Amino acid sequence: MRWRGSLSASAGAALLGPAAAAALAAGVAAAAVPSKTAKPKIVGSPVAGKPLFVSTCGICHVLKAAGSAGTAGPNLDRVPLAEPVVIKAITLGGASVMGQSALAKYHTRMPAYRNVLSTTQIQDIAAYVYRSTHR
Ligand code: HEC
Repeated sequence: MRWRGSLSASAGAALLGPAAAAALAAGVAAAAVPSKTAKPKIVGSPVAGKPLFVSTCGICHVLKAAGSAGTAGPNLDRVPLAEPVVIKAITLGGASVMGQSALAKYHTRMPAYRNVLSTTQIQDIAAYVYRSTHR
């Protein structure tokens, strides 16, 4: 049974590696600080989102990448929003992510797509809008 002990010890060292050991030495707090330069991970698929954006959103929104020219809502090229914000806007309606003064410019209210689109479809559209406005 003695060999088992030494095997797991060396396997553990191999799994940890020098980088992990250094991170441990630097402390958990330092390792948990996110990098400012790292691009946020995208949840949805921009490729799947494009046709959905064109058919569902383009009628009310300008988005250069989609070639859409709707004017009922904000020009999305002018408001580069993070993917989670766009997900919220689609799910609950655009007004849910806007302040009163910005809202005052719009005479139509954007519908909430919570019961219209699936979670995946909402994520895909949001990923497409995010990618199209962050180049
Ligand atoms: C019927 C027209 C209409 C449709 C369709 C529509 N929107 Fe909107 N959208 C608006 C309006 C109008 C606003 C401004 C808020 C409000 O009045 O509800 C808005 C606001 C937004 C905002 C917030 C913009 C900001 O300045 O913060 C986002 C993001 C957005 N819409 C994305 C979408 C996406 C993505 C779709 C497709 C799933 C979509 N919209 C479909 C009309 C529409």
